[in-house]
Amino acid sequence: MSARSDASQIRLRGMQSDDLPQVAALDRLSFADPWPQGSFEYELKANNYSVCLVAEDADAPEGQTIVGALVIWLIVDEAHIATIAVHPGYRHRGIGRRLLAEGLLQAAERGAVKSLLEVRSGNAEALHLYYGFGYKVVGLRPNYYQAEHEDALLLDLDPLDLEFLRNLKQTFSS
Ligand SMILES: CC(C)(COP(=O)(O)OP(=O)(O)OC[C@H]1O[C@@H](n2cnc3c(N)ncnc32)[C@H](O)[C@@H]1OP(=O)(O)O)[C@@H](O)C(=O)NCCC(=O)NCCS
Repeated sequence: MSARSDASQIRLRGMQSDDLPQVAALDRLSFADPWPQGSFEYELKANNYSVCLVAEDADAPEGQTIVGALVIWLIVDEAHIATIAVHPGYRHRGIGRRLLAEGLLQAAERGAVKSLLEVRSGNAEALHLYYGFGYKVVGLRPNYYQAEHEDALLLDLDPLDLEFLRNLKQTFSS
């Protein structure tokens, strides 16, 4: 998959069944410990308390159009970021930010008032993204990723600032 120069052609939409093979491939490309087979299908079809979004580049070759994915779990009044990934060829162009803003707004519409997530302590790209939204470190889980002896940071965003998220979304469409 080649990188495109124009990010405006990237469309966000709800994940669909047809996307699942590409979403799983993106997950394998993005994480050393990808989700087990069937996990995305479960989130999409069986979990009524998840927000599943993709970023699509309709101009990319067929079968390679999904360039970003996000799953949020709705746990009572909390939006837990279960996973977010952008294809390496499409990173640093704001797609992760767009996905996160849209996902949090949809979670808020369904009752979320705050957000929580775990992230590897060495994941600078992801931390930069989350800090930009106002997430704060509230905990450390030592050696959480045992294979790599890496700690997890627990981040929270409380409360969700809907005006900030709506304004951010506005900047993407202008
Ligand atoms: C984390 C990830 C989703 C970010 O996606 P992205 O589309 O590149 O993010 P964006 O382009 O929206 O960037 C968001 C912010 O991070 C910054 N950023 C992106 N990559 C960066 C890097 N390598 N170093 C520093 N900052 C970086 C951007 O400049 C932007 O900051 P800004 O507000 O100052 O403009 C992507 O790097 C990824 O898929 N990583 C692998 C999977 C992963 O680790 N997911 C997170 C699990 S917790």
